[in-house]
Amino acid sequence: MTAQRTLSVPGIAYGGDYNPEQWPEEVWAEDMRLMREAGVTMVSVGIFSWALMEPSEGVYDFSRMDRLLDLLHENGIAADLATPTAAPPAWFFRAHPEALPVDKDGRTLFYGSRQTFCPSSPAYRDAALRIAGAIAERYADHPAVVMWHVHNEYGCHNAACYCDTSAAAFRRWLRARYGDDLDALNHAWGTTFWSQWYYDWDEILPPRATGAVPNPTHQLDWRRFCSDELLSLCTAERDVLREAAPAIPATTNFMVMQNFDALDYWRWAPELDVVSNDHYLMSTDPESEIDIALGGDLVRSLAGGPWLLMEHSTGAVNWQPVNRAKRLGELRRNALAHVARGADGIAYFQWRAAKAGAEQWHSAMLPHAGTDSQIWRDVVRLGADLKALAEVRGSTGTAEVAIVWDWDARWALELPSQPSGELRFQDLVRDWYEPLWRAGVAVDFVRPDADLSRYRLVLAPSLYLVDDAGAANLTGFAERGGTFAVGFHSGAVDENCHVRLGGYPGAFRDALGVRTDELFPLLPGESLGLTGDVPDGAGCTLWSERLRLAGAEAVASYAQGQLAGVPAVTRHAHGAGTAWYLATRPDPATLASLLDRIRDEAGVQPVLRTAVPPGVEAVRRRGADADYLFLIDHAGDGADVPVAPDATELLTGKPASGSVTVPPGDIAVVREPHS
Ligand code: GLA
Repeated sequence: MTAQRTLSVPGIAYGGDYNPEQWPEEVWAEDMRLMREAGVTMVSVGIFSWALMEPSEGVYDFSRMDRLLDLLHENGIAADLATPTAAPPAWFFRAHPEALPVDKDGRTLFYGSRQTFCPSSPAYRDAALRIAGAIAERYADHPAVVMWHVHNEYGCHNAACYCDTSAAAFRRWLRARYGDDLDALNHAWGTTFWSQWYYDWDEILPPRATGAVPNPTHQLDWRRFCSDELLSLCTAERDVLREAAPAIPATTNFMVMQNFDALDYWRWAPELDVVSNDHYLMSTDPESEIDIALGGDLVRSLAGGPWLLMEHSTGAVNWQPVNRAKRLGELRRNALAHVARGADGIAYFQWRAAKAGAEQWHSAMLPHAGTDSQIWRDVVRLGADLKALAEVRGSTGTAEVAIVWDWDARWALELPSQPSGELRFQDLVRDWYEPLWRAGVAVDFVRPDADLSRYRLVLAPSLYLVDDAGAANLTGFAERGGTFAVGFHSGAVDENCHVRLGGYPGAFRDALGVRTDELFPLLPGESLGLTGDVPDGAGCTLWSERLRLAGAEAVASYAQGQLAGVPAVTRHAHGAGTAWYLATRPDPATLASLLDRIRDEAGVQPVLRTAVPPGVEAVRRRGADADYLFLIDHAGDGADVPVAPDATELLTGKPASGSVTVPPGDIAVVREPHS
């Protein structure tokens, strides 16, 4: 893994996407004044400037960017300078119509928006590297530029293209994966099924629309290919930038939440100098704070430490069916919750709300209403808060619990033709994450083959696909004394999506001490009661199995139906440790009580030893000399929380000797020096 590099902006960076090309230059001076007022220290510029910077092929006009970077520098504001490759200009597509993407049904998508290019197009790659090179050369030594922002949200709108050029690129990728051995591919894909055997590489197509269910391994390899194909564009741009300016770190903004699943970020993160993420609230989620925490923990784990929040919103977005504005105080709680999870920079989309264009109804730091607005007041206050938190920078998490998160397993789980079409990876992981969040337990995310030695407890809420090495790593963790808990329909298939025979849950059967001979998914709306060591009224939905104990003990069993008396939750002493199986989806209260017990057995402590009132999020960042305890009141009732006798509350700068008060809906960040 490339070690993450440090950004040369002091403290916690603060800012947003800045698109001044959308405004007359008279407005820029006001922007500078207001950015200084808000405490902005870094802005991302040039993200969608290709059409203005390169008016025709090979002809550049950098005059506007020159003036902008100089102005930012004069005002002490750093630039995260983008390559504008997410939105090629119209002239490019007129010259290269073959670079337009084609969807699954064979329809060509046209320009007039953004990210309408085929990721495998040689013409696009050439044009992208050319503009990236010209920018790198021109601005490598500009004192305002502190980071390269490669492209924007790779794969957001064009994660897959099904054109003939993509088909050829897919075949090249497959030849590399299968060592040029077509039989190996045929066996991996199981192509004796439905007469799919391939005799020539050229017979293989992208998984275009078919009349019946497509081949699962074909689909899975396609997802892997699409992620790698975009990654190769990203690393090619990164290399061009690095060559011109080795000292300037490069990032690209990830999207680990919002149900975006196109990219295997475990493969992406090591390629970047700085890991950054974009996070948006979903209006339909009544507890978005949990989504922020999960996303933050995931991106910190990808980065292996602090990261940057490259985009979020001050208020409503514009791309959901109904776009919820933030509640009073939510802007600040959201931003500081990202800091609590390891963000060393907080940025928004975008600085000034647009007057025209597709995002004219998206919130911004400076709203349409101007400075006489709640959002502006909150933005200015946040700038002061982040300044007060400068010393938090560089500190990181303290987790003893790891949750397994794997994109291959996610992709495979959500392929068509599963026993149930109701299984959603992100929802299943969140089910398990939620009770840990409520209990104030710190969590990291890991891939199945990660080094697990620093954890007491490893959870795999959903790991449908796992290869032998990953399975051995996880069960070995239990063997060596760890506590390992697995969710239903895990370990079911290998890396080629082939079912592991001999009973479910295949790869984990022996470690769990159970054997299932048949799966009984529950219908939407159907539920079953649970009896045993579970709360009164315990129930479950979504899934059940006819499971037999093979060494494990039953913790809970189905209370009725054809599986009455069959174990639904089991516990097995495995080697020096313990392996738990949750063969169903328990209701939230039951899952919380099971995870409490599992956690107690593993000896995992919450962030705070004393109980925290419900709705108060407690997170700790560990620095070299002190811990930073973030207390965020989402419930609105406030709280008094015991802290170290020599503690200081950083947002107010006041001593907090032994106790700190979190006012309703507010936040406290407490420095507890290491003694
Ligand atoms: C994404 C993009 C931005 C903007 C925002 C709007 O995150 O990167 O350019 O479109 O969404 O929410």
